[in-house]
Amino acid sequence: MSDLVGYETEGRVAILPIDNPPVNALGIGVREGLMRQLDRAAADDAVDAIVIIGMGRTFPAGADIREFDQPTREPHLIGVVDHLDTIEKPVVAAIHGTALGGGLELALGCHFRVASPSARMGTPEVNLGIFPGAAGTQRLPRVAGLDHALELIVLGKPVGAHKAKDYGIVDAIIEGDLRSGAVAFAEKILADGTPRRISSEPRGGIGSPDDHAATIAKYRDLANHRMRGQESPHQAIDSVLDGMLMPYPDAVQADRKRFETCKNSDQSRALRYAFFAERETAKIPDIGKDIAQRAIANAGVIGAGTMGRGIAVSLADSGLPVTVVETSQEAIDTGLAEIAKLYDGMVRRGRIDEAEKERRLARITGAVGFDELGAADLIVEAAFEDLDVKKEIFAKLDAVAKPGAVLATNTSYMDIDAIAAVTNRPADVIGLHYFVPANAMRLLEVVRPAKAAPDAIATGMALARVTGKVGVLARVCHGFIANRSRLPLVREATFLVEEGAAPAQVDAVLTGLGMPMGPLAVSDLSGLDVSWRMRQSLAGQRDPDARYMHLADRMCELGRFGIKAGKGWYRYEDGGRNPVPDPETEAIAIEVAREQGTERRDISDDEIRERCLYAAINEGAKILDEGIAARASDIDVMWLYGFAYPRWRGGIMYTADEIGLAKIHARVQQFHAEHGKHWDPSPLLERLAAEGGFFTRPT
Ligand code: CAA
Repeated sequence: MSDLVGYETEGRVAILPIDNPPVNALGIGVREGLMRQLDRAAADDAVDAIVIIGMGRTFPAGADIREFDQPTREPHLIGVVDHLDTIEKPVVAAIHGTALGGGLELALGCHFRVASPSARMGTPEVNLGIFPGAAGTQRLPRVAGLDHALELIVLGKPVGAHKAKDYGIVDAIIEGDLRSGAVAFAEKILADGTPRRISSEPRGGIGSPDDHAATIAKYRDLANHRMRGQESPHQAIDSVLDGMLMPYPDAVQADRKRFETCKNSDQSRALRYAFFAERETAKIPDIGKDIAQRAIANAGVIGAGTMGRGIAVSLADSGLPVTVVETSQEAIDTGLAEIAKLYDGMVRRGRIDEAEKERRLARITGAVGFDELGAADLIVEAAFEDLDVKKEIFAKLDAVAKPGAVLATNTSYMDIDAIAAVTNRPADVIGLHYFVPANAMRLLEVVRPAKAAPDAIATGMALARVTGKVGVLARVCHGFIANRSRLPLVREATFLVEEGAAPAQVDAVLTGLGMPMGPLAVSDLSGLDVSWRMRQSLAGQRDPDARYMHLADRMCELGRFGIKAGKGWYRYEDGGRNPVPDPETEAIAIEVAREQGTERRDISDDEIRERCLYAAINEGAKILDEGIAARASDIDVMWLYGFAYPRWRGGIMYTADEIGLAKIHARVQQFHAEHGKHWDPSPLLERLAAEGGFFTRPT
């Protein structure tokens, strides 16, 4: 029998500490332990009240997600939560850390809840494709009211202890030692004779779905908008509605069936995969946890353009003083003014207040030339994408940076080994590839040149963590993981337009998969000239036998750079950002097709989907095979955070496994025969297809 839940007493209060590191997940051992110790306390004549508390860093952070793939074992969590209703002595949940999902449901089953000021609580289950299935959808509306309950349940974002108190979830905030505060709270309950609060009992006032039609519609809309294509937020709302229409036991019964359906759905499996994939990125096979990162107390950024500004803001937001350098005072003044505007925007949207804006702005200073970078522990170069420019910068940096400083380039595709080679300290040079806007995008591609020191890489990964980003490691190759695996999709999209598809058709197929924007609309947004310049710079290395993006070049030659030019793949009227199909694009495509001898035809949505997706998957397989990515799931995390690939599809490599590698390989071979060299099948894809293997799961 496990000892994951202890039994201690202080005066007439029993304390049940849950000890299941790292996050006290409510696995079978904890559930059994809770049942046993609750019954013991209920029967203990020396005990009048009970406190449930988490050991270590947190109150339970939820059910044990790893158990979801195994047969369920009793007692279920709902059994524990409902059992609390029958305990006649007051039970107090003492919350610190993160009481999430089943953890919050356990607390809701308790008769009272107290929390440390820094505690956070919420029901993030929708992010795993499920909903709070241990009566959270029934009890939370009764405790916090419908609007607040739906906010937590549908949006899946935790709230802090003070907000939770405002919502009625927490009865008291305990400053100082939580355990003794919780015991004192329990003693006061006893002294005052406060009756137990049973959160399953109907409390007048929840009302019917009709009474709350507007609130329910608001959360349905939010779910559609923020989690497009995802079913779990709607299942969660349906479950809450059941609680309004049925007695508690019937609603819980209905929940059980709905929960099992959700848990066994493809979406939930993919979302659980994404949860663990994200955590795997931090594990670098040959850089163990023991390798210490270098201390970063201040940073420098080279370049105050869009990228440099975003990086500076990201660093300053995490508390680091940052020096931004430029080549002229004018460029610095413009850069700092734009940074101030960015913070003004955050204030306007209510993200920070004026005082916080001033604090963050004060961390960013500007300077002309490199001299001010001598004290920086980390320097991120965000200059123009030109290898010679970057080499010149790194040679200069080598002269001014202090020993041990990490020197990072933000290049999105260049040879960082060559950049590192111009310095006398290649071990200190890494890539930090940010995504636009750098302060908001969660992905940070940490690139590992051949000579980079393990602690320099560890520092890059740690920087991702402290700046609230997900760091994913890549080795050096053209475009690293993210851009290299996405380029084939974009290339195929433009070929499809040349062959007869309308940009809107191509984009609709991709948004139909759950991506918020199609690749051509994204190109218009980021500017077609960006990849045009890259193609020009690589003209010398072009394979003459491979098909080329003539149409994309022609669009640029005609000044169709996208939104900023008012025209690209689409037309944009009156300076707006709304893409309007443009017959001119078709005329240009017809002309380029004629020049290239491309036959134009009707193209099916299936062909568009397969060509765009399989091109990316085939490249992903090559990236994996070459060791550029340590594992397939790293490629997936890149797509989730870099390109808004729908999380409920797991990522492109996970999607490939779902479709079946043999099927994909057969199509890749066919496309290779029809369209030529750029469809060379990946040897890894070929091998796995033959073996019946997978990218993301053991065979
Ligand atoms: N089940 C199993 N393992 C979990 C887990 C869970 N609920 N939560 C975290 N872990 C594991 C992580 O996989 C990680 O393991 P490794 O060290 O082996 O990679 C370890 O615990 C530490 O987690 P993090 O690296 O994420 O640590 P953190 O400090 O950055 O974050 C956290 C901690 C905020 C709790 C975060 O882990 C988290 O958000 N966890 C998931 C919370 C959640 O979704 N709860 C709901 C579960 S479903 C549920 O409860 C259903 C229900 O209604 C009954």
